[in-house]
Amino acid sequence: MTVTLVIGTQWGDEGKGKVVDYYSKNADYVVRFQGGNNAGHTIKVGEEVYKLHVVPSGVIQGKTGVIGNGVVIDPEILLTEIDELINRGIKPHLLISERANIIMPYHKILDGAEEQYLGDKKIGTTKRGIGPCYSDKVARNGIRAIDLTDKERLRKLLERILPIKQKMIDIYDIKTKFDEKEILETYSAYGARLQEYITTTHVELNNAIQKKKQILLEGAQGTMLDVDFGTYPYTTSSNTIAGGSTTGVGIGPKHIDEIIGIVKAYTTRVGEGPLPTELLDKTGQHLQQIGHEYGTTTSRPRRCGWLDLVVVKHACMISGITKLAITKLDVLNGLSQVYICTQYQLEGKRIDYIPANIDVFTACKPVYKEFKGWETIDQNTKTFEELPKEAQTYLKFIEKEAGVPISLVSIGPGRTETIEVP
Ligand code: GDP
Ligand code: IMO
Ligand code: MG
Repeated sequence: MTVTLVIGTQWGDEGKGKVVDYYSKNADYVVRFQGGNNAGHTIKVGEEVYKLHVVPSGVIQGKTGVIGNGVVIDPEILLTEIDELINRGIKPHLLISERANIIMPYHKILDGAEEQYLGDKKIGTTKRGIGPCYSDKVARNGIRAIDLTDKERLRKLLERILPIKQKMIDIYDIKTKFDEKEILETYSAYGARLQEYITTTHVELNNAIQKKKQILLEGAQGTMLDVDFGTYPYTTSSNTIAGGSTTGVGIGPKHIDEIIGIVKAYTTRVGEGPLPTELLDKTGQHLQQIGHEYGTTTSRPRRCGWLDLVVVKHACMISGITKLAITKLDVLNGLSQVYICTQYQLEGKRIDYIPANIDVFTACKPVYKEFKGWETIDQNTKTFEELPKEAQTYLKFIEKEAGVPISLVSIGPGRTETIEVP
């Protein structure tokens, strides 16, 4: 196995940080390929907890972290993250694609302004400037990592782009006036600090593939936040599915050997948009409390509900997922019954796909299959067979319905609370 891809199958926060850290032990490179610091990936090693937003999770295991061209980078946040890691005794070995787009101050302001303007129709973004930055990339108004290292080029770009951004901000009636000189100085200083990391990551990674090095691709967000196949427009602005990894890194699709889809044993979502299995009752609150379901990036409470297999099957289909990693199974401990949504009820009919029309998706009601719960899971469990019989039944149902084998079960946030399923 040379290239392994790890992606979220739901609405993000499935436990990608935990699973990527776990698999990093065998990796040479761990690569982020999309998203930015809207992501928040948590890694727990013993008593130490790390929350990473842009730096790939593999650096905690001392592996080379690569920030691919498909990522959008807020240099201020990235530098803070690097400094914090160094303060905690981890000097990250990092490579940053010269082609990665940079989140600029106007992206963050516009993200907030658009959300405010939308009012109760807002997306519920992380306000990190992600959408406006990707919009500029596609509109060819982007500033890329390489541009930060060439002051004259950065000056020319700002001269072209800033007046347009100023006009947009004036429309929203925000009293910010951009100072081109100040932005130029600040961002070229960031460039000077980041220069040592900025390189042709696509060449490095393709050479690594030729040398049979182990590469782990770390997704951010999840399938239902994918800009094409998620609950559009309540999505993020990048392709979070398997397809996004090849364009976001610059490797050919044939090189990907394994695609691991992470499935949280129940469902969560941060921000607005439909969530068919959402529980607005005590059980929902129970999952939120026991699962500590509060955003890693924005601290917002995550909406919680039962596992939705229509969603998981959609993810498996679109990304060609080859293995499943089930996380947070322990959070379901102590519930007398647990439920899995297998289909949706829509206008008297049963459907088993995700409607593209958001209003139609919002009208979908979950059809549940009931399972007997289990009391507890011993945190030292090391094999599937040692899990409570009821939990095994729950997992086997997921596996059978998805048509994809489970290769890992996570029963706690720590590195050791992990069961490999051969
Ligand atoms: P990510 O964005 O997909 O990396 O997920 P987050 O880090 O945002 O959220 C997952 C949360 O669940 C983190 O606090 C993890 O430490 C925690 N976590 C991961 N796996 C497990 C697990 O199996 N059990 C429990 N109880 N917590 C877990
Ligand atoms: P990780 O990688 C959960 C959500 C936001 C919002 C929508 C659009 O930790 O799983 P954006 O700022 O991207 O324009 O917001 O996407 N969102 C996430 N939800 N986990 C994430 O990342 C997310 N990144 C973005 O809450 O609903
Ligand atoms: Mg997260």
